[in-house]
Amino acid sequence: MVFKILTIVLLLPPAIHFTLKFIKHKSLYPFMPFKYNFRRRRITFAKTLKLLDERHVKMIIETGTSREGLKNTKGDGAATFVFGKWAQQNNAKMHSVDINEDSVKGAQNEINKQNLNDTITVHLSDSLEFLKTFENTVDFLYLDSYDYSKTDVDIQIKSQEHHLKEFKLIENKLHDNSIVLIDDCGLPGGGKGKTVVEYMLKKDWKVLIDAYQILLVKK
Ligand SMILES: C[S@@+](CC[C@H](N)C(=O)[O-])C[C@H]1O[C@@H](n2cnc3c(N)ncnc32)[C@H](O)[C@@H]1O
Repeated sequence: MVFKILTIVLLLPPAIHFTLKFIKHKSLYPFMPFKYNFRRRRITFAKTLKLLDERHVKMIIETGTSREGLKNTKGDGAATFVFGKWAQQNNAKMHSVDINEDSVKGAQNEINKQNLNDTITVHLSDSLEFLKTFENTVDFLYLDSYDYSKTDVDIQIKSQEHHLKEFKLIENKLHDNSIVLIDDCGLPGGGKGKTVVEYMLKKDWKVLIDAYQILLVKK
């Protein structure tokens, strides 16, 4: 009896630890292999993937590319490869733009590895320059460039203003069925989306999900 109790007491902490780890693991399975943990972005990624299906999206733009390929699903999100995979399966195209050469190299390596070259084009450019000259209609816009800071208010404002500028430059290429997702919003100071979402809400946009990311569609 004592032995049984001792065994239970000894096994309990690892079992609890394992259960908690399992609960915290937010996968997009079966769309993405189970091993990838999308954590705080799972809910918005899942809803966005559903909308991409429903709205027959053909053109995707992402600002700020997945610099670590598929390695950082928990931290950065790896959106290039989530939405890029969807695009490949649905005969859509994706353009991902980044100002940093290493980020572009990191994304390109994964694009090669996943055979996504016919679907995703990664551009080395300031997102504002890229968006200014983009000529096609955009069905899904993902804003995730200028890195945000949890503590530095100056960086927070610069990041928020940058994302607003991005939106304004591509706004006239969006249409009634377009989808906009903004990353890193649930952070001190309002995150990347604060200023651009305020702007969008004064226009004809509404928030579908306001979580760590903010997902918007037209009213
Ligand atoms: C958080 S990461 C993007 C993560 C990626 N969207 C993902 O889901 O994995 C932010 C990226 O934005 C890029 N960036 C910062 N300022 C930029 C700008 N002005 N134009 C384009 N990219 C920029 C950085 O170089 C960095 O690679």
